Amino acid sequence: MTSRLKLVGSLVVASALTMAVAQAQTPPFGQEEDTAYAQKVWAAMEELNLAGDGAIHAFPYAGTDPHGMMLETFYQNAEIDGQAGTLVVKRNYGPEGVTADQVLSDPGEHLGSVTVMFKRESGYDAENKDWFYAKYLPDGSLDKNPGGIELAGRVAKGNAEAGCIACHSAAPGEDFLFTTDRTGW
Ligand code: HEC
Repeated sequence: MTSRLKLVGSLVVASALTMAVAQAQTPPFGQEEDTAYAQKVWAAMEELNLAGDGAIHAFPYAGTDPHGMMLETFYQNAEIDGQAGTLVVKRNYGPEGVTADQVLSDPGEHLGSVTVMFKRESGYDAENKDWFYAKYLPDGSLDKNPGGIELAGRVAKGNAEAGCIACHSAAPGEDFLFTTDRTGW
């Protein structure tokens, strides 16, 4: 009886360990719930004319890596799944040397990607100010990291050297936003 209990006990421990390992290997982004959420964000952007055929434009300004050589940034309020939050959309244009005029005369030709942050419900990622990140290709599909994981969610929480959070956590003002700290627009 005792040995049977011990056996059951060690099985429980073993499966708990397996689960812990599985969890550690599941990145906090690129999961089904993240990509489904990213589709809703893109749909909201289309509705707000921030993406798609009717998208509005601003005067592009010079940017740097990793985002692009010419940028447009928009701050809006959006509602996803009934939750209102700040939506920040950054369009990233290239290639190197492209001018604002060239971008404006043919934005579709120069658009490389669209990077987005949306402020989710509190508790989504409390230690990182609850931002959801996504990187889209111009057609609205998600870009992937070198490991083939789609860039949507808490990208790449837990990896201090790579990903959106690692860099944006260094933005002045501790709000994870860079453009709000820009001077000389
Ligand atoms: C190596 C640093 C770095 C990484 C990595 C990075 N960003 Fe940024 N991001 C910046 C900088 C710098 C700006 C400000 C650019 C500007 O407009 O001058 C910015 C701006 C933005 C903005 C506009 C809001 C703001 O902070 O000004 C969004 C949205 C954004 N990034 C999304 C993303 C997403 C999504 C990812 C990951 C796929 C990502 N970023 C990865 C540095 C980074």
